[in-house]
Amino acid sequence: MAEFQATVDDEQAVKPDLDDGSGTSRRRFLARLTGAVAAVGAVLAGWPLFRSLVPNVLYEPPRRFKVGLPERFQEGVTFLDEHRLYLIREADSFHAISGICSHLGCTVKFSPFSTVEDRTVRKHTFRALGEFHCPCHGSKFHGEGTNYAGPAPRPLKWYRLDVSSASGELVIDLSKEVGRDFRLVV
Ligand code: FES
Repeated sequence: MAEFQATVDDEQAVKPDLDDGSGTSRRRFLARLTGAVAAVGAVLAGWPLFRSLVPNVLYEPPRRFKVGLPERFQEGVTFLDEHRLYLIREADSFHAISGICSHLGCTVKFSPFSTVEDRTVRKHTFRALGEFHCPCHGSKFHGEGTNYAGPAPRPLKWYRLDVSSASGELVIDLSKEVGRDFRLVV
């Protein structure tokens, strides 16, 4: 009996310790959970404020840029791959044609003729050095940009060219489209 009593007393002596231990871990767990919920709540509540401090700016490449001195460009057609533009030089006269296909925006390739010839397209006569072909769906454009085959719905765009008064470099302005008779003479 004394032995049994001793066992019961031992269990009673141990039980409060177990309760204390699990209660402490439960409290600790609940405290951590509460902290985590509070942190998530704070982030969610503060997000609109944080977002309002970050400007909604779309970083796009500049629409007007220098491409170099006129003498840098050889007679004929130069592709400016960084800008997807063709710069055409005929003696002292320059013009710029977009290399972006008017169908779905692939880059058109210049296909040179073996001989330069005068051509008339839509009542406009020009020296044809070659023509532009789109590798994606087969559209074709005359050398002055007019579409004549394939799904492209419109001609290639022409952009305004100027000379920088500060550096003498050619400046292309993508915000200003020009007609097919535009020429910059330097
Ligand atoms: S993107 Fe040029 S033909 Fe389709």
